[in-house]
Amino acid sequence: MSTTPSVIYLKDYQVPPFLIESTQLRFELEDDRTLVKAELRLTRNPECQVKPRGLLMHGDESLRLCRLAVDGQVLTAKDYSIDAGTLTIAEVPDQFILESVVEIDPAKNTALEGLYLSDGVYCTQCEAEGFRRITYYLDRPDVMSVFTTTVVADKARFPVLLSNGNPVAEGDDSDGRHWVTWEDPFPKPAYLFALVAGDLKHIEDTFTTASGKQVALRLFAEEKDLDKLDHAMTSLKASMRWDEQVYGREYDLEIYMIVAVDFFNMGAMENKGLNVFNTSCVLASQKTTTDAGFQRVEAVVAHEYFHNWSGNRVTCRDWFQLSLKEGFTVFRDAEFSADMNSRTVKRVEDVQLLRTAQFSEDAGPMAHPVRPASFIEISNFYTMTVYEKGAEVVRMIHTLLGPDQFRAGSDLYFERHDGQAVTTDDFVAAMEAASGRDLTQFKRWYSQAGTPVLDITDEYDPSESVYRLRVKQSCPPTPEASEKAPFHIPLQVGLLSPEGTDMPLENGATTVTLELTESEQTFTFTGIPQKPVPSLLRGFSAPVKLNYAYSQAELVFLMQHDSDGFNRWEAAQKLGVIILQALIADYQAGRELILSDALVGAYRAVLNDTTLDPAMVAKVLTLPSQAYLGELSTQIDVDAIHAAREFAMNALACALEAEFSQAYKRCLIDVAYQPSAEQVAQRMLKNLCLSYLLRAGKPEYLALAQQQFSDADNMTDEQAALALVVHSNYQDAAPAMLSQFYSRWSQESLVVNSWLAVQASNPCPGALSQVEALMQHEAFNMKNPNKVRSLIGAFCGQNPVNFHAKDGSGYRFLADQVVALNELNPQIASRLVAPLTKWKRYDETRQQLMRDQLQRIMDSAELSRDVYEVVSKSI
Ligand code: TRP
Ligand code: ZN
Repeated sequence: MSTTPSVIYLKDYQVPPFLIESTQLRFELEDDRTLVKAELRLTRNPECQVKPRGLLMHGDESLRLCRLAVDGQVLTAKDYSIDAGTLTIAEVPDQFILESVVEIDPAKNTALEGLYLSDGVYCTQCEAEGFRRITYYLDRPDVMSVFTTTVVADKARFPVLLSNGNPVAEGDDSDGRHWVTWEDPFPKPAYLFALVAGDLKHIEDTFTTASGKQVALRLFAEEKDLDKLDHAMTSLKASMRWDEQVYGREYDLEIYMIVAVDFFNMGAMENKGLNVFNTSCVLASQKTTTDAGFQRVEAVVAHEYFHNWSGNRVTCRDWFQLSLKEGFTVFRDAEFSADMNSRTVKRVEDVQLLRTAQFSEDAGPMAHPVRPASFIEISNFYTMTVYEKGAEVVRMIHTLLGPDQFRAGSDLYFERHDGQAVTTDDFVAAMEAASGRDLTQFKRWYSQAGTPVLDITDEYDPSESVYRLRVKQSCPPTPEASEKAPFHIPLQVGLLSPEGTDMPLENGATTVTLELTESEQTFTFTGIPQKPVPSLLRGFSAPVKLNYAYSQAELVFLMQHDSDGFNRWEAAQKLGVIILQALIADYQAGRELILSDALVGAYRAVLNDTTLDPAMVAKVLTLPSQAYLGELSTQIDVDAIHAAREFAMNALACALEAEFSQAYKRCLIDVAYQPSAEQVAQRMLKNLCLSYLLRAGKPEYLALAQQQFSDADNMTDEQAALALVVHSNYQDAAPAMLSQFYSRWSQESLVVNSWLAVQASNPCPGALSQVEALMQHEAFNMKNPNKVRSLIGAFCGQNPVNFHAKDGSGYRFLADQVVALNELNPQIASRLVAPLTKWKRYDETRQQLMRDQLQRIMDSAELSRDVYEVVSKSI
C-alpha cells in the first residue's frame, strides 16, 4: 500500500453535481482487448447547490483512455487529468455530450469486478463499484440513466450477446463478427448494468403477469449444464407469482434472463432484466445437487427476482443504504421460502445462521450497524449484518405493524419512490405513514451495532393471579459506540399452563407482542390461574440473546408442549447448551464425562413421535453446533467443545441405537425422487440417523453407509454417506469412497467442490496436509472463488479443530493464502481472512499466533483496500 486508503463517511454525503440522462455504450470484444465507447448526455443536477466548473468521473487504473470529447470537440491532455481512480475535466458546460473510448483487458481481470472472462464467457459484475473498471462514469447509485448497449463480437465463438432490457436491433458484419443492440427503458444506476457474450445455450418459458402481459423467460448456461436449469425456471415462475400475490408487484420488461457463470465472487446479481448467477446458485439436478442445494437455488432465484422492485425500481441513494435493498429482499425471499417449504424449518435455519455468523460479526472488530456510518471499501460491507440482521429489522417492523399495515407501508414505499434512489429512513417513513406508528426509537436498529441482551426474570403471585415478567435490556460496546440507547424490541411471548396448553392472554390471544423500549420494564399478566412456564421470544421475534433461568425439566416440557414450533426447537437447543456446557467444564477439569439422562429421554420421546415433521425431528436432535457453543463462550476452547460434542453424540448413539435404526428405516423413500418439502424432510432425518448410527460402534452401520453411498439415486444421500464416513472413526474406509466419488463426478465442477469441502472440513488429524495436497490437484484453481471457498474457506471456517491447531499451522496457512489472493482477487481475500480477525475470543497462545499472522499480512506489499480495511481494523 503506497498511501493509506481514505475513509468514506455517510455524514459527508452530497447530491451529485451532474446527472446522466442517457448512456449509449458500444463494446467491441477482441481477443487481446475490448474497446468501450461511451456517449453520455450529462446535465447539471438542479438539486445541487454548488456549481463546480469541472467534472469528476470515476475510473480505474486499468482503463486506457483512447479518446475524449465534449460536444464533439476532442479534448487534449491540458483539458483533463487522470489519476489512479478518477478522470477530471477542467471545465464543462451545463449540458453536454461526453464521448469516450477506453481500452480494457477482460482476460487479465482476476478480481472478477467489471468485465471479465469466466471460462471463455464474457460477463460483468458491476455492484458495487465495478462499472468504473469498464469506463469512466458517475459510478454512484444516485445517478440513474437509461442505457442503450451494443455488443460486437466474433459470431462463431460468441453467438449469444446480451445486455439489460429488450433487444432492439442486430446484424452481421462482413468480418465474421456480429452485433446486438439492447435498450433498457428503466433508468438505473451503473451497478445494475450487465453484459454477457459467449457460446451459451438456453431454456425458455413464458410467464403471464397478473395484468396479462407476456414475459419471455430465458435461462442460459453452457451446453453441458442445460439439463440443470429446470428447477431455477420453476423457482422463477413461483417467485413472480408470489410477488404479485403477496406484494402486488409485477414484472416490467418483456424478457427476464438469467446466465450461469462458474467464476463469480458472490451468489448472484440482480442486474436489470439480466441476472448473472454463480452456477452454484442456479444449476440443480437430482444426481448432482443436494436438497440444500435445491433450496438454495430456489431462494437465490427468488432473491434476485425480488430485487427488481426492492433494489432496481427503488434503489439506494448511497452504499451506506445497502440494507435498504438487501435487508428487505432477504426478508422477502425468506418469507417466500417459508411459504414454499416448511416455515418453522426455514426459521430455524435462518436463526442458526444469524446466531453463529452474524452474532460473531457483531462481537468482532468489524462490527457495524445495519446502516454503517463509514467504510474504506464497500465490498467489505456485504455482510451478515447488512443482509441477515437487516432482514430481521424488516421482520420486526412486520411484527410491530402486522401483515396488513406492513403491506400498506410497502405499497406506499414503492409508489412514493418508484424510479428513485432513497434511504432506509425513507423506507421507515413509508411504514410510519401507512401505519400511523412512530418508529423513531425503532430506527436505532439501523444506527447502533451489537447484539442486544435480554435478561428476564419472573414472579407469580397466586393470591392475585398475577404473573410478572421483568425484562432488562443491554447491549455490549462495539467499535462505533460504547454506550447504547435502548432498542425498541418486539418480544413475542406465550404462557403455558402446567398441562402444556397455551393460557389465553389479552383478548383470548395465546401469543402477545410485548414492546420493550426501556432498559428495564415489567410486564404484568392478570387472571393467570396457575404458575405458567413462559415461552419467550416466540418465532425468534428479535435478533437478541435471551437469558432466562429455565430448569432442565422446564425445557423438556417446552420441547413437548410449546405451540410455537420454533420455540420447541429452541427449548431443545437450550437443553443441549446447558448439558454441553457442563460437559465442556468437566473436560477442562479432567473429570469423567457422563451424559445426562434428561437429554437421552427427551431425544427418545421426539424420535418416537411419528406425528412430528421429520425435518423438525432432525433439527431438534441436532446438538448445538460447535460454532454456536463457541459464540456462547467467553473464551472459545475449540478442543473442549469438540470433545464434549463428540462424547455426547457417541453416547446418544449408543443409548438410542434401536430408535435411530428404526427411524432410519421409516425414512426410506420408495417413490420417485422429488426435492419436495416432504421428501427433503425424510432424507434429512434419515441422514441424521445415519450420522448417529455410525457412532454406535458396529461395523454393520459402516456397511449401511457404504450401501447408501453406492445405491443412492440422488446427491443428498450420496454426499451425506460420503461426508459421514470421511468424518468418522472409520478412516480406513474413507480413501476408497473419496476416489470413487471423484472418478464418478470429476466432470461436474460443482460436485467436485463438495468433494473438496468434505475433505477440508474433516475434523480428523491430518486435514491441513490433505488440503495442501489438494491445492495441487487438477480440480483446484485459485482463480475460481468457488474452489477457494470449498477448499481454503471450508478448512478455515468449517474445521475449527484443525484450523486452530496449537502449533499455529492453520493460521500460517490462511495468511499465506490471503497474501496470494490479495493480488488475484481482493474481495475473496478479504472475506477469507475473517477467522483470523476473531483472535480475541481464544486463549493467549492462540491470540498471539493469530495476531502474528495478521501482522504478516499487514506487512506484505501492495495490500488491496479490501484486505487492508479488515486487517487494520482487527489487529
Ligand atoms: N446484490 C447482490 C445480491 O445480493 C450481491 C452481489 C453479487 C455482490 N455480486 C457481488 C456484491 C459482488 C458485491 C460484489 O444479490
Ligand atoms: Zn441481494
